[in-house]
This record gives sequence, structure tokens and C-alpha cells, in this order.
Amino acid sequence: MLTLCSLNDIPEPGSKGFKFQDKSLFAVRARGEVFVYQNSCPHLGIELNWQEDQFLDYDDSLIQCATHGALFIIESGECIAGPCHGKTLIKVGSKIENGYVVLTEE
Ligand code: FES
Repeated sequence: MLTLCSLNDIPEPGSKGFKFQDKSLFAVRARGEVFVYQNSCPHLGIELNWQEDQFLDYDDSLIQCATHGALFIIESGECIAGPCHGKTLIKVGSKIENGYVVLTEE
């Protein structure tokens, strides 16, 4: 298992981007849980964010692609609006352990 960050590094609710072992990832913290995804839109393969650590919509309830406004469910990564409707972000297994976010898969 690999430590991604301290839980306190991610605002609640909020999101944070990471460059981790050549991969671009982001983590969303919401409702006491953390969800980690590859930072790659399922339809174009580009990064979702324009601004650093900004992966959520205006009220922090959904993940949003900054380029197209596509919206994804935080817990599942499923796109519910936008050009990749019905497709899903690639989740990276993770858990919270002793105040840290650790990856359970790479
Ligand atoms: S790159 Fe796919 S919705 Fe923006």
C-alpha cells in the first residue's frame, strides 16, 4: 500500500490533484469518505481540471470536467451529464488509515 496524502490535505468537502508515479490522480473528500480517480476523462482522455485541485462543481456535489461541464457522481465516477454520459471515471482503490489516504492498488 502507498500513502497518497494526509487526510487533512484534502478539504471536506473538496478535492485535490496528485502526480503520483507518472500518473495524474485526484481525490475527492465528501461525507466522511475519500474517492480516488485517474485524472482522465473517459471520452477524450484529457485531465478534468483547469485549476489546481478544482475537480468539483460549484456546490461540491459532483465531479465536473472543466472543459465541457460534464458531471460525474462522486461515489461511483459515473458521468450523468455531458459528452461521456454513461461512461465512468477509472477509480483507484483507496482507504483511510490512521489519518492518511492510502492506495490499495496502483
Ligand atoms: S474531456 Fe470528457 S467531458 Fe470533458
